[in-house]
Amino acid sequence: MTGNYTFTMIKPETVIDGHAGAILEMIQAAGFRIVAMKMTKLGKREAEMFYEVHKERPFYGELVEFMSSAPIVAAILEKENAVESFRNLIGATDPAKAAEGTIRKRFAKSISSNAVHGSDSDENAAIEASFFFARTERYTANGEACW
Ligand code: CMP
Repeated sequence: MTGNYTFTMIKPETVIDGHAGAILEMIQAAGFRIVAMKMTKLGKREAEMFYEVHKERPFYGELVEFMSSAPIVAAILEKENAVESFRNLIGATDPAKAAEGTIRKRFAKSISSNAVHGSDSDENAAIEASFFFARTERYTANGEACW
């Protein structure tokens, strides 16, 4: 089932700076339930694969270098209309354009180090979630495997 799930990563510099806890608190305060979560480090090839859709963009090399530079926190989140609701919570990709009260307004340093990633569609949420998590790592509110 899609529609109620999205995928996020807290990005390297933000994890290194110790902001993962504050960001997870904002995510949960906004009504998202954590279905799956892990801290891990992407290899260069994994970052290339995750961001393959941006392969032709001029910032692709910089994006891959940055995303494989230090650990990230990956999570699947559940809420009604999760993709759109989460994109509202994180704010614009460019932190200079992010609204007050959003995660990027508070924690992003630049368009590259912009604190968090959020899926842009239900289809990509499913693809991105599967990049990091097996079915057996995803849990419903009562602890049963889900999605
Ligand atoms: P994210 O939501 O992870 O999806 C793709 C990422 O590419 C985006 O966040 C930005 O961090 C990055 N990005 C987008 N545009 C630029 C840009 N012009 N320069 C550098 N990085 C960018």
